[in-house]
Amino acid sequence: MRYPMNDNWLFTPLYTEALRRLPPGTPPAGLERVRIPHTVALLPVNGFSEREYQKESAYLHALTPPLSWRGRRVRLRFGAAAHQAEVFLNGESLCVHSGGYTAFTVDLTDHLRFGQPNWILVRVDSRESLNIPPFGKAIDYMTFGGLYREIALEVRGPALLEDVFVHGGADRALTIRCRGVDAEGCTLRVRVADDQGRELWRTERPFDPAVTATVPDAPLWSPEAPRLCTAVLELYRGEERMDSQTVRFGFRTVDFRADGLYLNGTKIRLRGLDRHQSWPYMGYAVPARAQALDAEILKKELGCNAVRTSHYPQSHAFLDRCDELGLLVFTEMPGWQHIGDEAWQDQAVEMVREMVLQYRNHPSIFLWGVRINESPDNDAFYRRTNDLAHELDPTRPTGGVRNFKKSHLLEDVYTYNDFVHNGTNRGCDPKRKVTPDTAKGYLISEHNGHMFPTKSFDWEGKRLEHALRHARVLNDAAGQPDIAGCFGWCMFDYNTHQDFGSGDRVCYHGVLDMFRNPKPAAAVYAAEGCEGDALAVSSTMDIGEHPGSDLGTVYAFTNADAVRLYRNGELVNEFLPGKEYPHMAHPPIPIDDRIGSQLEKKEGFSPRVAAQVRQCLLAAARYGVGALPPRILLLAAKLMLVDRLTYQRAVELFGKYVAGWGEIATSWRFEAVRNGRPVAQVTREPMQTVRLEVRVDTRTLTERDTWDMATIRIRAVDQNGGLAPFVSRAVTLTLTGEAELVGPAALPLAGGMAGTYLRTVGQAGRAELTVSAAGMEPVTLAFTIQKEGDCDATQTAADC
Ligand code: GAL
Repeated sequence: MRYPMNDNWLFTPLYTEALRRLPPGTPPAGLERVRIPHTVALLPVNGFSEREYQKESAYLHALTPPLSWRGRRVRLRFGAAAHQAEVFLNGESLCVHSGGYTAFTVDLTDHLRFGQPNWILVRVDSRESLNIPPFGKAIDYMTFGGLYREIALEVRGPALLEDVFVHGGADRALTIRCRGVDAEGCTLRVRVADDQGRELWRTERPFDPAVTATVPDAPLWSPEAPRLCTAVLELYRGEERMDSQTVRFGFRTVDFRADGLYLNGTKIRLRGLDRHQSWPYMGYAVPARAQALDAEILKKELGCNAVRTSHYPQSHAFLDRCDELGLLVFTEMPGWQHIGDEAWQDQAVEMVREMVLQYRNHPSIFLWGVRINESPDNDAFYRRTNDLAHELDPTRPTGGVRNFKKSHLLEDVYTYNDFVHNGTNRGCDPKRKVTPDTAKGYLISEHNGHMFPTKSFDWEGKRLEHALRHARVLNDAAGQPDIAGCFGWCMFDYNTHQDFGSGDRVCYHGVLDMFRNPKPAAAVYAAEGCEGDALAVSSTMDIGEHPGSDLGTVYAFTNADAVRLYRNGELVNEFLPGKEYPHMAHPPIPIDDRIGSQLEKKEGFSPRVAAQVRQCLLAAARYGVGALPPRILLLAAKLMLVDRLTYQRAVELFGKYVAGWGEIATSWRFEAVRNGRPVAQVTREPMQTVRLEVRVDTRTLTERDTWDMATIRIRAVDQNGGLAPFVSRAVTLTLTGEAELVGPAALPLAGGMAGTYLRTVGQAGRAELTVSAAGMEPVTLAFTIQKEGDCDATQTAADC
């Protein structure tokens, strides 16, 4: 049996030794009742210190195990404790677990008082002075603290199945490895079924830690068709069931070759983003729904086919969704640039062990990162991490992220953070210049990021350049067939330490903001990989946002073939994908001529003269009248002398068709066209009205093993649905019903965007959230909250 144990924890941010001496059954006064996932400090979005979450805190839970549990093993499974946890039972220390990103189990069996009250006490140390990864030097991300992943009490055995690893290959070979505890004389039953519940294979045999078979009817797992299978393993002693484990896995083969990644024998080009597992206010402590939402966003809103869980193993809820969506995952050990002493390295090796043992059943994982991100070479240390990963999982390659070239390559794949692109040069370096061994695979594990931090509230030109820099790297990487793909830094803005970021403890490196609202760079990814019709336009077409009122080249990010531009309802021109991006499937489309055929249509010029006048006007916009190139000066002279175009008329035409300064603003319509047919459109006109656009991932919240949470994304949009990036009003959140807000009830729109979270409070019912801002129609969302499970089933179990 597995009992969720996420409710009824008592928390204090200050651990004291006195907590160990609590008499059984006496609840201590003054502790806060909390629910898991829990953070030791709720934080502002920005502008706070990392000292706020660094503490030695304590969690207490009462447990009265029924007498019927005698003879079984009673174990507590912690999803994660950031960053070191010591678990006491009735004051006795049973275990210290180091490392904030992997699960651990504490066996209570021999110390429990059955039929009587017991105290479980967890001392959680979230101080960054711990001598374990990732600590020891500056780190570019906050590490937060607390029991931030779910907890369960397991009553199993006494014979146990441990460390079950189920692997299916593209050849339908099935391998099951597991460790039996006291399993001699037991029988193992295995049943494998596909995602429709259809049985594919079964066996019953004396316990065997290594089972192999061929499963001819097994469906394959792939990014396009992520078919999952389930293996149920049961351990019997006679007719009594001792233990069971259910594992979801996929039949697929990962093969990294010199020229890239092959999945089931087919080459696949990786297009991904790096992801931290952090949120505003809560740090790491969110429930499964929010974790899964990030996977959805990556796949469906950003069109990615891969993600790197930088720089540590992340929630299984996120990985589960990646498995279901077919999103490939590069998962790595915790760490950032620093390698510590021997004790530190031993802990790091232990973290590799836990990572591989705990995550190897996820078919989405295609690569293990077994180096500390961006650390120097250290052959002795990295031989240990590589050997261990290969021993525990012979089916997957290893990589390890470097920020320098030609490092010692002990791994199977050279994974490199290529930050060469500075806006004016190549997007990335060729593989042969980076890796010491071209016979092995190569991928770019990060690009962009700190090279061009960009806020959603930066000026339009900067946000556009941010998008184009991502496009340039995507293009150049795609143009080199021996680069397996690239991961952009990064999915969303994140809280960081004092040594990094913009001074407010935020690294504005995301293609999304912290609330997962998109910046223009997100549209580059969406156009390249999304399935539906994508169209985004880089500009609001407000000339006053630009130096010299020159809009410059505007870009459309779309997966259509072309974009047609209409000015006040009349076709100006049709634009094709930019030639600078020949390797992208859907390059940005530059819209650099807003005059088009209007000079002949509306001003009565002959087609030949219209073309020449247009050339001169566009050159005047690009270079300025005082710096026109000689050929344009000659053309202008010819137009004046031969075609009788006066200077005055030229200035008028410039004002009307190019600058727009002092002209009544224009209505622009961008129409994406595929196979000659319009598939999407964007209209840009001066803002007349603004309204709130509120997007929520669910209206039905369910308490199952623990609290649930809805993610709400808010944008101010104009009458045409276009983002109003500089409308910076206060948003007010009013909530009624059986839920509570996470974070403040009032916050500013930043870059025209904001967000909030609504969490359940342990009760079924309803909730209503009203989002309002001055001068805008309030938006009300209704939520249904249901209760399906028992978030602290240990209580119920103890009662019966
Ligand atoms: C890399 C590092 C990331 C992040 C990024 C910013 O060096 O691996 O964690 O700091 O730079 O661009």
